[in-house]
Amino acid sequence: MKLLHIDSSVLGPHSVSRQVSSAIVDRLRQATPGLAITYRDLTTTPLAHLSGSHLAAAQGAPSSAEVQAELAAGQAVLDEFLAADIVVLGAPMYNFTIPSQLKAWIDRIVVAGKTFKYGANGPEGLAGSKRVIVAISRGGFYGAGTPMAALEHLESYLRGVFGFIGVTNLELIQADGIQIGPEHREKALAGALEAVTKLQAA
Ligand SMILES: Cc1cc2nc3c(=O)[nH]c(=O)nc-3n(C[C@H](O)[C@H](O)[C@H](O)COP(=O)(O)O)c2cc1C
Repeated sequence: MKLLHIDSSVLGPHSVSRQVSSAIVDRLRQATPGLAITYRDLTTTPLAHLSGSHLAAAQGAPSSAEVQAELAAGQAVLDEFLAADIVVLGAPMYNFTIPSQLKAWIDRIVVAGKTFKYGANGPEGLAGSKRVIVAISRGGFYGAGTPMAALEHLESYLRGVFGFIGVTNLELIQADGIQIGPEHREKALAGALEAVTKLQAA
């Protein structure tokens, strides 16, 4: 069984989502002998944003060595995702949504003919066999009915995009209110780590 672990927080060891994603991987590693783990840090090895040159080169147009290398990096990301049975994602909220580094990764895995296709009844997800577990961390609170709810575009976006590519086995562990104060941070982190201990084995 293969697990792909992705982090996207720029805050290194101070990151809440990194601590939680790492705890998730530890829990699954202990519970699943022989689990093969691939780790990708989207901040130390960022992916290039998509451009017209990438899309043209992918269609066979002549391109520079730089664009070819970036296309190969994107293909490697897609192959890693397709090969994974379980994906563990660290996803902090930046300006109400995911970090741009994580968006660049999503741009490489949401690919027509690979993870979705358009059929007679509209879009159809092709990545349905995966389990995806997301460690979310947010500075504030965005629950239904709260004043900030309309600005929640992190969890809603990830639910939407993974749903679009067919993932139905999506689990979210949230640590909220991280910037409200140290007590809130400790409580949210402890709550998230407690939720990790209840995750089903792989
Ligand atoms: C650049 C930046 C932008 C942020 N934007 C938001 C935001 O829009 N809403 C929010 O609730 N928290 C925001 N925060 C706070 C983070 O979501 C919070 O600190 C969270 O713990 C970040 O995850 P991490 O600890 O894994 O990096 C922001 C933090 C940073 C560094």
